[in-house]
Amino acid sequence: MTSTNVLVIGSGGREHALAWALSRSPLLGALYCAPGNAGMAQVAECVDVGSDPSSVITFCQDKAIDFVVVGPEAPLVDGLVDALEDAGIKAFGPSRAAARLEGSKGFTKDLCRKYNIPTATYARFDNATDAKAYAAAQGAPLVVKADGLAAGKGVVIAETVDDAMVAIDDMFAGAFGTAGAEVVIEEYLEGEEASFFALVDGETVLPLATAQDHKRVGDGDTGPNTGGMGAYSPAPVMTPAMVEATMDRIIRPTVNAMAAEGAPYRGVLYAGLMITESGPQLIEYNVRFGDPECQVLMMRLRSDLLPVLLAAATGTLNEATLDWHDEVALTVVMATRGYPGTYAKGSEIRGLADAAADDDIEIFHASTTADGDRVLATGGRVLNVTALGRTVAEAQARAYNAVDKIDWPEGFCRHDIGWRAVEREKETLS
Ligand code: AMP
Ligand code: GLY
Repeated sequence: MTSTNVLVIGSGGREHALAWALSRSPLLGALYCAPGNAGMAQVAECVDVGSDPSSVITFCQDKAIDFVVVGPEAPLVDGLVDALEDAGIKAFGPSRAAARLEGSKGFTKDLCRKYNIPTATYARFDNATDAKAYAAAQGAPLVVKADGLAAGKGVVIAETVDDAMVAIDDMFAGAFGTAGAEVVIEEYLEGEEASFFALVDGETVLPLATAQDHKRVGDGDTGPNTGGMGAYSPAPVMTPAMVEATMDRIIRPTVNAMAAEGAPYRGVLYAGLMITESGPQLIEYNVRFGDPECQVLMMRLRSDLLPVLLAAATGTLNEATLDWHDEVALTVVMATRGYPGTYAKGSEIRGLADAAADDDIEIFHASTTADGDRVLATGGRVLNVTALGRTVAEAQARAYNAVDKIDWPEGFCRHDIGWRAVEREKETLS
């Protein structure tokens, strides 16, 4: 096989982890990231190509890029993969039509209903009056969701009917922009959450791994929701039987349904699950890797990432296999003080090389920029300090040991990432 020139689109911890894994491939030629960050610059050439598909295509033609890996959801929902494929450039990720699995919650709920895929009961609304009548009739608790992409913020768990009314008014008043022009109201599901990832080539499904993340900003899973303050893989709640049930009842039926609907799914399918008393239920789909879940997946992956991503893009996953490290991976997100509210940009981070010196540690950058030799924080979630260990407790101890070596007074992290799994380990040992 000749070497493959790759462009990774994105600038977060997820894309750093993907670029890091790709950079280890013996099949890789040149690796570019657009726009990238200070961490990605250590494994790739970072370039600014703009977000317009035509400028991405021009760049690919100039640099003889063979394969584009699209990290975030927005360009997928906007159809970047369709544009690249029309230009004869291979790309990892779903078409615009298939990306509706994340781009429209109503689309996914209707698909689940039509194909009998387990999910919370729901109704869709395009006006507040009908939505409120439904909420009042159902009673609380209820979940109110903006239909479109809202950067993970368009979901309100309403403990009372009054809270649901306020959420409905907010959404139709434009709190989430056009994402809230339509609203989905659904049943509140009780259980433990887990994430399941699979590669899909339109037809064949290759399960990747499971993970759990911590969405709340504060220790003990308290405070406002964030993009994710830490994660670990595998998710102990996802036993082999639960994985099988998820594949049989949720993932394969969805992949078959998308093909039947004329929008075959290619890329990574990320199922947000609620593990209920009656088994796994789908909370939502994402059409890209989770962030920070991708970071723990890439730490555990032993196989070469490049050929399997190519196989997903080109319909040859039936020939692919994956090999994983037995260890657990855990990542701690370091964020700028103030996140997920307002925060200052530009503070300096020191001590990264020392903190990452151990073979079992990788520090993925989520939003940094290089200023000469200095690394500056440029966003809310800034670093993902990621460790491997034989147990969750060991991975957790290693990750926090590395966190302690990072000199960044303007940053903070949670101190209990993995707590639920660590407690479970203690129970099994005692
Ligand atoms: P989503 O953006 O759809 O993943 O929702 C964000 C978070 O809201 C999820 O991770 C869950 O914690 C919670 N959530 C969403 N839908 C439900 C539901 N039907 N029942 C309980 N919790 C939910
Ligand atoms: N960590 C949650 C997400 O990527 O959506």
